[in-house]
Amino acid sequence: MVIAGNWKMFKGPAETRAFLEAFEPPEGVDVVICPPTASLHEAARGPLTVYAQNAHWEPEGPYTGEVAPEMLAELGVQGTLVGHSERRQLFGETDEMVARRARAALTAGLGVIACVGETLEQRESGDMGLVLKIQVEAIAYACEGHDYAIAYEPVWAIGTGRTATPQQAQDAHAFVKGIADVPVLYGGSVKPENAEELLSQPSVDGALVGGASLEPGSFHAICEAAVRVSTP
Ligand code: PGA
Repeated sequence: MVIAGNWKMFKGPAETRAFLEAFEPPEGVDVVICPPTASLHEAARGPLTVYAQNAHWEPEGPYTGEVAPEMLAELGVQGTLVGHSERRQLFGETDEMVARRARAALTAGLGVIACVGETLEQRESGDMGLVLKIQVEAIAYACEGHDYAIAYEPVWAIGTGRTATPQQAQDAHAFVKGIADVPVLYGGSVKPENAEELLSQPSVDGALVGGASLEPGSFHAICEAAVRVSTP
């Protein structure tokens, strides 16, 4: 089971170092942290698996503000998120861009967690299946032949304190797995209090944790929930 912490635009190098000093992962769970770009170098010196939050599809070029997967690999970064809903919603990333980012990262030897998820409007208008199908198919097509993971993160549950019910998560994960047979992490207001129930669902293979990954104690508690769920 994978527990990944998406730090978003929080924690510079000094705070990253302080987190790593305070956090020791429990045995029996694959822990990943995704610090902001400025803290990747510091994070990669520590003992945890480190993923970036995004990566470009070209190995180099005139792309101001972007970072190439090969450069991340050189830093000791082991993978990257792609397609986070904040990238899609706030920075205009399309399914095609997300797919290209994912494929380039995999080709450069990085791991990938590709994020998908519907907005509340899409869920309520009955378009959830269509939206997820388009997002997942674009990723699956681009990543064929590679190992990668998907994170299902309903946009209405991200940073809102509103979590999908375990059954809603299970249904969406089963749907995603019907299109791409890969591990699927759940994301959206995962907290120590709800982690165990969400992670117990048969099609939930881990979690992508935002807010609750910033504090060593709460992130540790979520990792422990994953260990309990995976121990028969
Ligand atoms: P959240 O964020 O846990 O703070 O809702 C999850 C994410 O955006 O990956």
